[in-house]
Amino acid sequence: MNTPEFRVFGTAQAVASAVAQHIAAAVQANPAATLGLATGKTFISIYAELIALYRQGGLSFAEVESFNLDEYIGLPAGHPASFRSYMEEHLFSQIDLPANSGHLPGVEGDIEQACRDYEAAIAARGGIDLQLLGIGQNGHIGFNEPGSPFDSHTRIVDLTPSTIAANTSDFPEGEVPPPQAVTMGVGTIMQAKEIVLVAIGANKAEALDKAFRAEPSLDCPASALHNHPHVIVYCDQAAMGGK
Ligand code: GLP
Repeated sequence: MNTPEFRVFGTAQAVASAVAQHIAAAVQANPAATLGLATGKTFISIYAELIALYRQGGLSFAEVESFNLDEYIGLPAGHPASFRSYMEEHLFSQIDLPANSGHLPGVEGDIEQACRDYEAAIAARGGIDLQLLGIGQNGHIGFNEPGSPFDSHTRIVDLTPSTIAANTSDFPEGEVPPPQAVTMGVGTIMQAKEIVLVAIGANKAEALDKAFRAEPSLDCPASALHNHPHVIVYCDQAAMGGK
């Protein structure tokens, strides 16, 4: 097992700033980097900081390609809670990433074929250089819920009631998340060359503890990261249980 490097900060804002600087440095070092991107509340302030760095100059996404972790199945195009809408609003529309370079899993038509195509598109880029991850309160990464095989790839998944409840606040009043999504698999994530996992807030402390202080277990998908050689965890003190 490998022990990830923890970088712990006093505030959520300090975490966001440090993660944005990490992403910017990766793109500056490799302007044609392939990024694995995440959504969720955690990443809103990170992308805002990254946009601020972009506006300062000396950072371009013109040669970057990105692949998001996941997307809901069954939302109409342009739905405000789709991860495509999230990415357009919080990042893509505000940087120079070319329109066709920001990929999300396909959720229309033959979805199983779209899953295979997604894996092939990542492989055609030579794999993901830097994968960003949040963590669910139940230890999920992407939408890999507890029980997800550690060698799983991009596929259709059922969301757990706890994930649907946790994400309901992202939806307009009176709506709930769909029951299914497409996610990169744990195995897809594990193939990334470098992984940055971000956890902010006391409600992530239990999942973070389970992920990295116990033996890897299917009950906690994030614990698979123990077997990856290059993981950095950025978190605040609250997510470390106040330590
Ligand atoms: C969502 C996403 C994950 C994300 C996690 C935490 O369901 N599929 O990729 O990391 O839950 O989200 P948040 O940052 O909003 O807590």
